[in-house]
Amino acid sequence: MKRVIIAGAGLTKVGDHWNKSILDLAVDAATAALKDAGIATPDQIIIGNMFSGFSSSQESLGAMAADALRLWGVPAFKVESSGASGSMALHVADSLVKSGQANSALVIGVEKMRDLEPSEAARATSLGESSEYVQFFGISQTALGALITQLYMQEYEVTRDELSCFPVIAHKNAVTSEHAQFRKAVSIADVSRSMPVSDPLRLLDCAPVGDGAAAVVLSNDDGMVKDPAIEIAASAASTDSANFYQRDDMLEFMATRRAVTKALSLAGISVRDIDFAEINDSYSAVAGLSVEALGLSKMGEGARDARDGKFDIKGKVPISTYGGLKGRGNPVGATGIYQIVEAYHQLVGKAKANQVVDAKIGLTHNMGGIDSAAVVHILRRIS
Ligand code: COA
Repeated sequence: MKRVIIAGAGLTKVGDHWNKSILDLAVDAATAALKDAGIATPDQIIIGNMFSGFSSSQESLGAMAADALRLWGVPAFKVESSGASGSMALHVADSLVKSGQANSALVIGVEKMRDLEPSEAARATSLGESSEYVQFFGISQTALGALITQLYMQEYEVTRDELSCFPVIAHKNAVTSEHAQFRKAVSIADVSRSMPVSDPLRLLDCAPVGDGAAAVVLSNDDGMVKDPAIEIAASAASTDSANFYQRDDMLEFMATRRAVTKALSLAGISVRDIDFAEINDSYSAVAGLSVEALGLSKMGEGARDARDGKFDIKGKVPISTYGGLKGRGNPVGATGIYQIVEAYHQLVGKAKANQVVDAKIGLTHNMGGIDSAAVVHILRRIS
């Protein structure tokens, strides 16, 4: 197997892009990544996207993106895995480049959501749930997020204000994050008293709806190694029972736990070696359950660790360093690649005001549904 490095990265701001199509966004991010890598023609293009057919009436995103980039002849396809589409696309690209099947790959995560009416956006983000047992009854992703939040707060006696600490961290980091959707600090009281969305979820517990695209170029060519160089030390994916209410323990994110266990083993490190983590903070309780499943907190202790400063940018394990899904935004199928670009910028020391001091190893965690699919990557600085 060959060593896979990140040769270049690019992204667009997350938010409203009324004047850009889904392909325009993909091209903007991809062009920046190819330029950064100094590669004109990658061997492979892979797109991470969840619902372009629903939101933009556009499938065949692979061939469409190759055409828009004038990269005719390069094989291209789309990978879909609900909210984990971006990181699953990277997972596939990593295996192609690691095996030598391709020597380079352009991976683009893209989603267009703001053209949708709010009810359509709720429907789009719920398409990864069971059509027979969840969507049929009108239950949305956000309603599922509310149910698991209720359970999390009850079982572990997590208070409203403790839970609010996750959005406070995310928004604080988003203030200085140039590509973030919501560059505004919020207080615990702002979160706890924001508009109810689906009890007990408040507006500021939820990742927003936004458009965006991010891209990276992978290479197995040692001649492309820059200084500093960043390798993909591990890429691991897993799944769990799709409906969280059918799990033995509804408060244990097993897909995440399996993926992180495998990733740490592949990288040959322990969770204590992680310098920062980009987590899937789609809802405050999901952030808590994620840090617990990743082994960064004990079960039930995630929100209290957040309150005590463990996950602050200068804390023991900074999370959501550019604002996470909550502050940077969550253009669903693009999110996994935003996390990778952000981790890459941390490791090469380009994070400016958001820099984690002396960051050498970063973890990214991306989730589909309520942990029905999870992907963990470990990025490491090698020079
Ligand atoms: N965080 C902070 N502010 C938000 C926000 C959020 N999540 N969502 C909206 N806002 C702000 C908007 O900027 C707007 O402010 P303004 O009035 O000053 O312009 C206001 O709140 C209302 O915005 P609107 O777009 O009308 O919100 P909405 O009520 O249609 O949607 C949610 C709010 C929470 C329902 C929606 O963001 C949502 O469904 N989020 C979850 C989507 C998601 O990521 N799911 C996970 C998929 S894996």
